[in-house]
Amino acid sequence: MKGIILAGGRGTRLYPITKGISKHLLPIYDKPMIYYPLSVLMLAGIRDVLIISTPRDLGSYRDLLGDGTQLGMRFDYAEQSEPKGLADAFIVGADFIEDEDVCLILGDNIFYGQNLTLTLEKAQVLLAEQGGAVIFSYPVKDPRQFGVVEFNERGEVLSIEEKPEHPRSKFAIPGLYLYDNTVLEKARNIKPSARGEIEISAINNAYLAETRLRTLTLGRGIAWLDTGSCAGLIEAAEFVKAVQSRQGFYVSCIEEIAWRRGFIDDNALYSIGQALDMTEYGQYLISLVGAKD
Ligand code: DAU
Repeated sequence: MKGIILAGGRGTRLYPITKGISKHLLPIYDKPMIYYPLSVLMLAGIRDVLIISTPRDLGSYRDLLGDGTQLGMRFDYAEQSEPKGLADAFIVGADFIEDEDVCLILGDNIFYGQNLTLTLEKAQVLLAEQGGAVIFSYPVKDPRQFGVVEFNERGEVLSIEEKPEHPRSKFAIPGLYLYDNTVLEKARNIKPSARGEIEISAINNAYLAETRLRTLTLGRGIAWLDTGSCAGLIEAAEFVKAVQSRQGFYVSCIEEIAWRRGFIDDNALYSIGQALDMTEYGQYLISLVGAKD
């Protein structure tokens, strides 16, 4: 399975902060925002990742992440000339995806918590066995700013709506989607919505019409954090700070995940840590290697 991080867009909701810098490079406490969605793909065991961003910002992502070798990963980069909608990821990314299944994560979505890795595994098994699409649902107080999924009493999906004024359920659809390869063709056939975007909800509706859409609920143990507002940015940073200082474990540390999953060995982790040893982040990486003995 290939992975895509969509990290383009104009970020207008965060102006003036994002007038000169891509939103997904902003810090969430001690690391750039894009580390968080990247860590989710890595926890899912995905090692081939395409980063899509604007012509202006793509170079910054290359500077930050390189070709992935250091993490035992492979990173590719592609430009999205205009923010045409989330489903455009499958048009821009078609050559990268080739004939494989794909997991898309939005560059501003942060997930953390108990059973996340298990849930990701479950989603991949479902997709491998049954094909189609696997998306997630997450209860929120106000779902109007999200894709919303409605279920019947048997838990089957009845409808998917994008940012409905009158939501039919409290279940938002987070920005994490697993699709079989037919997503490429579906994306090519979608017409732009009233707001002029090719919507991810249209892709999900296409799978629903084929009765090949499955949903897993992210439970109370998993945090799905909002970074769409200045208050949301601070709250996300406070969450990361609280967990890290209380537990001593870092949230979404991509080097640690690469090491724990066996993408890189002790020596590799140690030398990344050494290069950053002027920071707590670097010292944390070094301490992981020491703690193993
Ligand atoms: O966060 C989950 C929600 O994300 C879903 O519930 C919605 O169904 C989905 O449409 C999306 O809603 P947003 O309003 O949050 O999407 P937004 O336009 O803010 O874009 C999400 C991210 O994708 C953002 O970091 C910018 C990036 N993006 C967006 C567009 C439209 C791109 O890279 N290219 C694009 O063309």
